[in-house]
Amino acid sequence: MEQQEEIQKIVSNKDVIVIDRRSFFGVLLGIGSAGMGALLAVPVLRYVLYPLYAKSKSTWSPIGSMDEFSNLSQPILKHLTLKQVDGWREVDSSLTVYVTKGADGALTVLSDICPHLGCAVAWQKAQDKFFCPCHGSVFKPNGKHVSGPAPRGMDPLPHKIVDGKLMVKFEYFRENVPNREVLS
Ligand code: FES
Repeated sequence: MEQQEEIQKIVSNKDVIVIDRRSFFGVLLGIGSAGMGALLAVPVLRYVLYPLYAKSKSTWSPIGSMDEFSNLSQPILKHLTLKQVDGWREVDSSLTVYVTKGADGALTVLSDICPHLGCAVAWQKAQDKFFCPCHGSVFKPNGKHVSGPAPRGMDPLPHKIVDGKLMVKFEYFRENVPNREVLS
């Protein structure tokens, strides 16, 4: 009886492939399982690869009322909080920038991250210069490089005025390269 259910397919005079009902359903089940596995793998892969294509949320942050900067005679330190994607987490980073005024009265916002190897640059009022405590790079009040191993000046950040407030878009730059390169 079981032999009657067998479907025989003669490939050649010598080779015979026998497919019975049980093995047919076995193959069908295997194909179904592989399909389901592939379907389930898509969201898992997307989750695993998410950090590779996700970018930090670069947003505009207020750093003070324009009134604060009207009589600026030297760079002033301001704090801001930035939401960033770190792997699979979203984290709040506290950052600091300097607002400085040029001879023409225009404001510039500078990242305090040293373009050499990333230490925090500090304003020294007595010397009228920025100094990096790590390897001694020195910068002018407008961020221009004076001396030390930093390959370029301090990095300026995009800024704008909205409703009387100074807004800044924080960006990270590649360290230790002469040309400015935005990372995120
Ligand atoms: S990190 Fe600033 S001089 Fe090296």
